[in-house]
Amino acid sequence: MAGGGLAAPAFLSTAKPNEKIAIACIGVGGKGWTDMLEVAPGNEIVAICDIDEERLAKAAVRFDKAKKFTDWRKLLEMPGIEAVTVTTPDHTHAPVTATAMELGIHCYTQKPLTHSIHEARQLARIAAEHPDLVTQMGVQHHATRRIKTAVHALREDHIIGKVSEVHAWTDRPINFWQQGMDRPAPGGEPPATVHWDQWLGVAPERPWVSGVYHPFKWRGWWEFGTGVAGDMGCHLLDPVVNSLELGPPATVEAEGPPPHPESGPEWCLVHYTFPGTRHTTDTLKLTWYEAGKQPSRELFQAPPDWPGTKNGLLFVGEKGNLFVGFPEMPELFPKENFADYQWADLPDHNHYEEWIHAIRGKGKTATPFAYSGPLTETVLLGNVAYRTGAKITWDSKNLKVTDVSEANQFLKREYRKGWEVPSLA
Ligand SMILES: NC(=O)c1ccc[n+]([C@@H]2O[C@H](COP(=O)([O-])OP(=O)(O)OC[C@H]3O[C@@H](n4cnc5c(N)ncnc54)[C@H](O)[C@@H]3O)[C@@H](O)[C@H]2O)c1
Repeated sequence: MAGGGLAAPAFLSTAKPNEKIAIACIGVGGKGWTDMLEVAPGNEIVAICDIDEERLAKAAVRFDKAKKFTDWRKLLEMPGIEAVTVTTPDHTHAPVTATAMELGIHCYTQKPLTHSIHEARQLARIAAEHPDLVTQMGVQHHATRRIKTAVHALREDHIIGKVSEVHAWTDRPINFWQQGMDRPAPGGEPPATVHWDQWLGVAPERPWVSGVYHPFKWRGWWEFGTGVAGDMGCHLLDPVVNSLELGPPATVEAEGPPPHPESGPEWCLVHYTFPGTRHTTDTLKLTWYEAGKQPSRELFQAPPDWPGTKNGLLFVGEKGNLFVGFPEMPELFPKENFADYQWADLPDHNHYEEWIHAIRGKGKTATPFAYSGPLTETVLLGNVAYRTGAKITWDSKNLKVTDVSEANQFLKREYRKGWEVPSLA
């Protein structure tokens, strides 16, 4: 039983200012490699875990004092761990993070916080029950000058007046990974260096196929990933939720190719409506675009030679539009209406350092699970609507879709026998 039977830690981990924090890193290839390097300065990487021994060996060269594991459950039995980074595929985030939090360990967990909406609600609950724990979801753009100035202009300066529509678009999955596929035929044995059963974890058993799941391409399969929404949704919708102080959506509806039971769509659009806030009109409409689809060029009111971007946000307000790209700086359109506007001077800071500082008692994290759990729920509701193939009405308080009962099957998954996590039941 994952997490069951693990001893409580000998201490609740509150580091003193400047004291080295004992950090364990779970998933140390791919993004996990950079997560590990980001949190290491001034701290001790005491343990590393990866199901791929080649990736683990590379990390062990860099951090030769760290104890090595291929099973995160064994790693969490090691005494003295104060904080963890969780950079595994999406389906493993919640089991690891919930187990770590129950052991009194601070968590930096990658976006999307979880694979399911039920898990996101549970992680936020566990975090609330452990107020001394410092949590952060990995949406590092949140700490950039680019996003901070855009959020400030909208939330503090109300520069475009009340916002009525937001458009959020990404070019993914094109050129990154494939979606809309049938499950492939079994593809032989995994390499001796890959612990496939550990990789599957809470997900149902299925045979290894080379080049299809591990590494990186798991994103396109519903059992493991959360599609394009999971990849870019938390990054793109974070500034929307943050600047407009949005609560949960009221309705969600998607369009795209017919839903596939195994894999995300080749493209889709998701239409959300949100109850208004003090920054918006009575209702806010949000449209999410995947696979290179974008709002019409006319809507931007940008100059004809404006280059646009592959990943970005457009806020449409009473007085004009605010654009911010990934990675372009914010701009206001039509330009002539905002010639005198002075953007706030809000320099970049480091999202990982913010977590480390908070563990040392200095400041707070900007994307703790109290914030990033609900944000992840909103992002994942797009997938629920898409997979249901109908417009859904969301009852956030009771965590259910009220009008299309089939949608509720996509809110929670069964964990594989032997991998149950009591606190996520
Ligand atoms: N914040 C960002 O900008 C950003 C960027 C990329 C990825 N991510 C997130 O990071 C996570 C990992 O993505 P990736 O692209 O690095 O994927 P990946 O498949 O390339 O890497 C995942 C790593 O975790 C290891 N792993 C898999 N299952 C494991 C388990 N049960 N225990 C320990 N290690 C395990 C893999 O061997 C691999 O080294 C995802 O949730 C993704 O959304 C965030």
